Amino acid sequence: MLVTIRHHLHRRLVAASPAIRGVTAGAGAGAGAGDASFSRHVSSELRTTSWRPVSSTSVEAFSSISSSTSSILSWRAFSSSSSSSSSLRESYNHILVERRFPDESNNNSARGGVGIITLHRPKALNALCDALFDDLIHAVQAFDEDDSIGCIVITGSGKAFAAGADISEMSTREFAHVYKKNMFAQWADITQTSKPIIAAVNGFALGGGCELAMMCDILIAGSNAQFGQPEINLGVIPGAGGTQRLIRAVGKSKAMEMVLTGNRITAQEAMEIGLASKVINSDLLLDEAVKMGFGIADKGGVAVRACKEAVNAAEEMTLSQGLMFERRMFHALFATKDQKEGMSAFLEKRKPNFTDE
Ligand code: CAA
Repeated sequence: MLVTIRHHLHRRLVAASPAIRGVTAGAGAGAGAGDASFSRHVSSELRTTSWRPVSSTSVEAFSSISSSTSSILSWRAFSSSSSSSSSLRESYNHILVERRFPDESNNNSARGGVGIITLHRPKALNALCDALFDDLIHAVQAFDEDDSIGCIVITGSGKAFAAGADISEMSTREFAHVYKKNMFAQWADITQTSKPIIAAVNGFALGGGCELAMMCDILIAGSNAQFGQPEINLGVIPGAGGTQRLIRAVGKSKAMEMVLTGNRITAQEAMEIGLASKVINSDLLLDEAVKMGFGIADKGGVAVRACKEAVNAAEEMTLSQGLMFERRMFHALFATKDQKEGMSAFLEKRKPNFTDE
C-alpha cells in the first residue's frame, strides 16, 4: 500500500468539512482494501479531535539506518521539457537520475530502492534555473510514485550542491513578473512528497541551494560543504524559505547572523547548530546517504510516511495540537498489517516482513 496518510486525510476530510480544505493531497497510488480500512480508522480518529489543517509546506526529519552497499541498477541521462507526468523520464537536461537497489550479495536485504537525483549543471555550480527546478520536481514526484523506491536522495556535483537561484536568469526580472509568477512558490512542491528525502550536501549550498537542502527531510553534510544565505549581497533576501526554515533549524540569532551578513558556515558548524544531522567525508557522502536511504526503505512504508508527516506537523502546530496529531496517527497505524507484523516479529525474535499495508 503506497497511499499516503495525507492522501487519505485529504480525500476523507475535505469531503467531510470545508474547514479542512487546507489539508494537502500527497502523491498517491490506487487504494486497496487495506487502504480503505486504514483510511476509515484515520478519519474516524481525526473526527474526534479538534483538528486544524496541516500545511503542506511543513517538512523535516525522520531517520534510521541499516548497513548495506549498493549496486547501480540503472544510470539514466538527461534531457527534459516540462514537469507533469508521473514516471521518470528517460533523460533530463540538468539532473542525473538513478535508481539504486541493495546488493543482496553484501548481506543487504533491504526491500526498497533509493532514487538518487544529482543536480548537474556544473558550469554554473548547479545554479537553480527554472528548467533545473522543473527537472528536479518532476524526478522527485516520479520517485515518489515509484513503488520500487522507498527513499530519495538529492545531491550535487562538482564544487557545489547548488550555488543558489540562477542570478543571470533573475537579474533583469521586474516586480510585476516575479509577483505574478509567484516566483519560487513552485519550489515547495519538493516538500509535498510522501517519501523521505535526504539532502547529501557537497560543496556550496548557498541561497536557494541551502533552502533546497532545508526542504529535504534529513540533511547530511559532506566535509567540504559550505552553507550560506548570501542574498543580502545581491540586494534581496532569501526567497525560498531561508528566513523561515533556517530559524526553525538553528534559532533566531544564528539565522539572523547568516541572512544579515551573508557569511558562510562550514559543514562542522552546520552540524553543531543543528542544520545538518551529521558530517561525512565528502568522498563517502553519497554512499552513506544511500545506505541511510536503504535503511529507511526497509521499514514499513505507511509508518515511514506517518513519521514524516508527524514530524513535519510540529512546525505548523502548537504542542498540544501536535501531540494530538501524533497520537491519532499512532492509533491509526493499528489499522495496518505492518503494525501486526512488526510487533509479532519482535515477539517471535525475527526480522519483520513489512508489506506497506
Ligand atoms: N547563479 C548563476 N550563476 C552562478 C551562480 C548563481 N547563483 N553561482 C555561480 N554561478 C556561476 C558563475 O557566474 C560562474 O560562471 P562563469 O564561469 O560563466 O563566470 C560559475 O558559476 C563559477 O562561479 P565562480 O567563478 O564565481 O566560482 P568561485 O569558486 O569563484 O565562487 C561562489 C563560488 C562563492 C559560490 C560564487 O559563485 C558565488 O558567490 N555564487 C553566488 C552565490 C549566491 O549569491 N547565491 C544566492 C543566489 S540568489 C537566491 O538563491 C535567491 C533565493 O532565495 C532562492
